[in-house]
Amino acid sequence: MDASLRTLILGDGDFSFGLSYSRRYKSIRLTATSFDPHEELLSKYPTAQDNVSSMKAAGARVLHGVDATNLAPHFGSLQEASNSCNLESFDTIIFNNPHIGVEDLHRHRFLLAHFFAEAREHLVRVRMFATALSVYAGKSGLWAFPVTIASLH
Ligand SMILES: C[S@@+](CC[C@H](N)C(=O)[O-])C[C@H]1O[C@@H](n2cnc3c(N)ncnc32)[C@H](O)[C@@H]1O
Repeated sequence: MDASLRTLILGDGDFSFGLSYSRRYKSIRLTATSFDPHEELLSKYPTAQDNVSSMKAAGARVLHGVDATNLAPHFGSLQEASNSCNLESFDTIIFNNPHIGVEDLHRHRFLLAHFFAEAREHLVRVRMFATALSVYAGKSGLWAFPVTIASLH
């Protein structure tokens, strides 16, 4: 894989996904993030610290408290960028198995719709919409993905 590729992982849990990804694609420039703030992450997942340390040792950037529906606080925004050029872009944005912890169709549709809108701002080639989204078996029907995605156009 191209070493210059910048990849953003959103919504990692204990960072086992990010760690596996960084081991599989050693040469990419990886930023892996959790929704949970750092303290909460450590209390929820005993394995998180080791995973984070291994990723950092391999050169990844790790951030906490990153909301997939509001990327501006960490990665800038188009509006701000027009003044200060602080928009950070990525070649690939991944939100693997997005889930809010409860079964709620409307909140999941909100999560995904806003994630796609945010990700679109931060992808280098908008037409090559590189966002990889995977979900548990059956969820795509349950969450009505075609409707969620179509609502963005
Ligand atoms: C089923 S877990 C999947 C964890 C990890 N992505 C994986 O595949 O191993 C769902 C994840 O979505 C995250 N999440 C929920 N709402 C989020 C949001 N608004 N922004 C970012 N992540 C969110 C949760 O914190 C949780 O880690």
